[in-house]
Amino acid sequence: MALPDSFLDELVARSDIVEIVQHYVPLKKSGSNYFGLCPFHNERSPSFSVSPDKQIFHCFGCGEGGGVIQFVMKIEGLPFLDAVRMLADRAGMEMPSDREQSDEQRRARERMLGMNRDAARWFHSLLQQPQGEQAQAYFARRGLSRRTVTRFGLGWAENSWDGLLKHLTGLGYRPAEIEKAGLAVRGSSGGLYDRFRGRVMFPIIDVRGNVIAFGGRVLDDSKPKYLNSPDTPVFHKNRNLFALNLAKKSRQGRLILAEGYMDVIALHQAGFDCAVASLGTSLTDEQAKLMSRYTKEAVICYDSDEAGQKAAQRAIDILNRAGLEVRVLRVPGAKDPDEYIRENGSEAFGLLLRKPQTDGEYRVAQLAAQYDLTQDDGRIAFLKAAVPMLAAMPNRIEREIYAHSAAQMAGLSESAVLAEVGRACARGERRKRQETERKALQPLRQVQPHERELRYQNPRSALCEEKLLALVLQDQELLDKARKKVSPGAFSSDFLAKIYQKAIERREQGLELSAAACMAGLPENEVRHLSGVLAESVRSREPEREIDDYIGTILFEYEKRTEQDGDDLLRKAAGRRRSKEGG
Ligand code: UTP
Ligand code: MN
Repeated sequence: MALPDSFLDELVARSDIVEIVQHYVPLKKSGSNYFGLCPFHNERSPSFSVSPDKQIFHCFGCGEGGGVIQFVMKIEGLPFLDAVRMLADRAGMEMPSDREQSDEQRRARERMLGMNRDAARWFHSLLQQPQGEQAQAYFARRGLSRRTVTRFGLGWAENSWDGLLKHLTGLGYRPAEIEKAGLAVRGSSGGLYDRFRGRVMFPIIDVRGNVIAFGGRVLDDSKPKYLNSPDTPVFHKNRNLFALNLAKKSRQGRLILAEGYMDVIALHQAGFDCAVASLGTSLTDEQAKLMSRYTKEAVICYDSDEAGQKAAQRAIDILNRAGLEVRVLRVPGAKDPDEYIRENGSEAFGLLLRKPQTDGEYRVAQLAAQYDLTQDDGRIAFLKAAVPMLAAMPNRIEREIYAHSAAQMAGLSESAVLAEVGRACARGERRKRQETERKALQPLRQVQPHERELRYQNPRSALCEEKLLALVLQDQELLDKARKKVSPGAFSSDFLAKIYQKAIERREQGLELSAAACMAGLPENEVRHLSGVLAESVRSREPEREIDDYIGTILFEYEKRTEQDGDDLLRKAAGRRRSKEGG
């Protein structure tokens, strides 16, 4: 759905980027810009800038950048329209499309949610019937009480090809709707059949209480063990967490992140009602962001096998990125929290939960476990691996604390370890400084966009096109002067020509000339590059002379290119003539 330019313009005008970024990132003013720690990568010194004049953000570290809409998309993990909607809500603007087109969409969505609820009721009621006996027995064998089964709305999908289909069509749902909701699958011969057959069912419920999808587990060892709903208009597995609907009400002040449905259910039953799990995939940034809306602290409690511990390492970074304090809890002597609680009881788990490891402790311990610390060479190898890891920790206090524990484990003096870490940090800083200097000294190399698709054919001209754009996008009068002297057709880069063209068109339509507005609707790689170009430009004292210089180079390069092309044409024409004369 395309939104009218005038709507986006007003939205951007009413959404001050500094104000909005400040909700997420503490900013400090420096000169005419604001700076803070980039929310999109880990860093120690602020390279994330927000420009109130240009209404853009840009990180000089990771290259992320854009206008206010892109910022909200990135930080909230939202698609374009949802980000626009969020800003519109905030600005008190009504989405232009909300009335007409989405009416129908909204109705379809509501029907799908209703259907999911009906399906969940159906699965749950089958569980109580004679044919649900083996499922009941299965839950009982796994230690789930009746209360837990009810609380999670667990159910049973009978082993039939069309039990649910018949039930839902009987309620008035069309087969195509049932397929779209992921509850039925179309076979190769074109017929529809139930997706979930002979499985115990776990409804997935979002924070608003809607049943949005299902997971279903076999009762034996057959594969696949769990089957999950596909993504549908009401379900995106990357954006939801199992049991967050319950955990968000918890008063335990944290969220426990487990791997599996059964772990979460066992934890809740044992009184840890703050447990959630991702849905059959590894944790995503969007899920971490979602968690951070409800808590400041996450405790990772994954399976004890190697895969689980690897996943935990990854989850630490993802949760940190979402601004969460992270702790890691390992269940000793059991394969997962479910098994641990069944074998040791909830008090035992409660004791573990009193002192989970901080992420730093966990990392040092994980590393130590890989070496034989009773041997000299084992200790040396451990230390060699630990130093770069410690040096990469973002703050000094953390580095000191964990250097201390690493030293203890390896039986070395703390000061020796700290000295090594200090040297590694200094090396890192030096490398970074050299990198910055190298970049600054090679402007033509620097001008190449990171994105391969945007590679410039003529960097000399492109550099001038970028600088010209940066100036004219900030000043309508300059744009009016420039467009008389150089047209987009003379640009060497199609991408930059497109932006220039857009700016000219907006000017002709009497629309406001804002960089953020020109960026709306561009693909992500282009936005990133353009925000960098804009962020790096500084207000010139003699902008008119400057743009004349740029235009001079652009036209010079343009002529060179067309002359070459012309030469080629002449040569080709001559060649043809010669071959004719010869033949
Ligand atoms: P596990 O196999 O660790 O699950 O997979 P579990 O909950 O401990 O299973 P049981 O019932 O105790 O044996 C962790 C999660 O990975 C997803 C599910 O979300 C599961 O809960 N998964 C696993 C699948 O989506 N499909 C599979 O085939 C297996
Ligand atoms: Mn398990």
